[in-house]
Amino acid sequence: MTAIRDGLPGTPQPPEVDVEWPLPRRGDVVPEVCAWLREHKPVARVRTFTGDPAWLVSTHALVTRVLQDETFSMSALAEPGARLQYAPLFPASNRSSVKDMVGVGLRETVMQAISPHVVNEATDAFRRKADRLLDEMTAEGPPVDLRARFTEPYTASVMSTILGLSEDHGRLLMDGFDISIMTVPCSFEGARVNLDKCMARTRARLLSPDATDAPGLMGALARFRAEHGTTAELDDELVLMLNNLFVAGGLSTSAFLLLALLLLMEHRDQMEWLRAHPEAMAPAVEELLRYSLAIGDALPRIATRDTELGGQAIAKGDLVLVLVEGANHDPAVFDQPQKLDLTRNPKTHVTFGAGRHYCSATFLARTHASVALSAVLDRLPGLRLAIPAEEINWRSGWIKRTPERLPALW
Ligand code: HEM
Repeated sequence: MTAIRDGLPGTPQPPEVDVEWPLPRRGDVVPEVCAWLREHKPVARVRTFTGDPAWLVSTHALVTRVLQDETFSMSALAEPGARLQYAPLFPASNRSSVKDMVGVGLRETVMQAISPHVVNEATDAFRRKADRLLDEMTAEGPPVDLRARFTEPYTASVMSTILGLSEDHGRLLMDGFDISIMTVPCSFEGARVNLDKCMARTRARLLSPDATDAPGLMGALARFRAEHGTTAELDDELVLMLNNLFVAGGLSTSAFLLLALLLLMEHRDQMEWLRAHPEAMAPAVEELLRYSLAIGDALPRIATRDTELGGQAIAKGDLVLVLVEGANHDPAVFDQPQKLDLTRNPKTHVTFGAGRHYCSATFLARTHASVALSAVLDRLPGLRLAIPAEEINWRSGWIKRTPERLPALW
């Protein structure tokens, strides 16, 4: 509890911040400070990586209010001079919010590419990829790093299938994550070089003569260009949108899957129960989503007018940070929230957000995880951590909570 600067006996002066930000990076233990925040400072003062002041919101009621109230805007984050969580290392697309892809039919094109129908058709391919990776791992024998050998290549393949990219194109974009989503105060040369490389690769594919024959979203966008005519500006938007979707999808799904595997290895009774009850995979994934600490930053919004939140005055232009793990572990909503209970089937977690910007690809996200977890449970009986949990090296300076490596035995 050393992070807390306020409310402790003997604290002499009103503090500038209530807690240190970001919260601890360990991704398998809910930070103690979450409970303190909910109880004592549900709207707490923090400073972001850029040094900007922000309000950190941590109860389920206030988190859902911020996400559902249009007073708190996502698009205002892109306005010049807006307070920031960290330096933006890749540009936001005008169309990066799927709900904003109005006009020329783009929204429909994107929603179709990530629709349950398309995802269901691709599920066998997802499972084949998972099995191939597990074949390689079992041929080599334990221990194996689950991140390098399973969750990342599996995710790159799933996202490439849906977006219609080759596997090596997907791996190139995925490798760029190490740079493009760092939580740094200022941009740096490597971020631009990485962005240029990723954009050039996607642009070359979109503009190639046979792109209209490509599968997935790539093919759909190439046909869209061919039918509606194109401009340099539209091409820029399409390239950025493809890259942003790969980042939004690949980053969140791989980080979640890796932490879900870790949670199962740490709760072996629950893992054995799930292995014996494969029909319970859907609610189990829901509970793993609720429990997950993968979102290591917070969901940011800008107040578009003076308002009030939990008794705290909020001024127009203030940055408000929504703490997903605060809401998902709120005992006012979830009984014994600190307990992982795969039979819980929580309906009101906010791991996919809420309101206008609710995640556009929840079916894909859930399928990605359940296919991979089923394959691992089928193929790796006795799966367990190869190192003590306390020795896991948690990445710092990155948006997600994630282990650098997750060595496992079976
Ligand atoms: C476990 C996996 C995933 C998690 C936990 C997740 C989480 C989220 C969250 C919390 C938001 C809301 C952000 C906010 O309100 O600030 C969001 C939005 C979004 N997600 Fe996901 N996501 C996942 C998978 C995916 C995938 C696979 C894709 C695409 C292929 C995707 C695409 C998007 C997009 C485009 C938005 C913006 C929606 C909008 O503003 O209209 N996500 N996601």
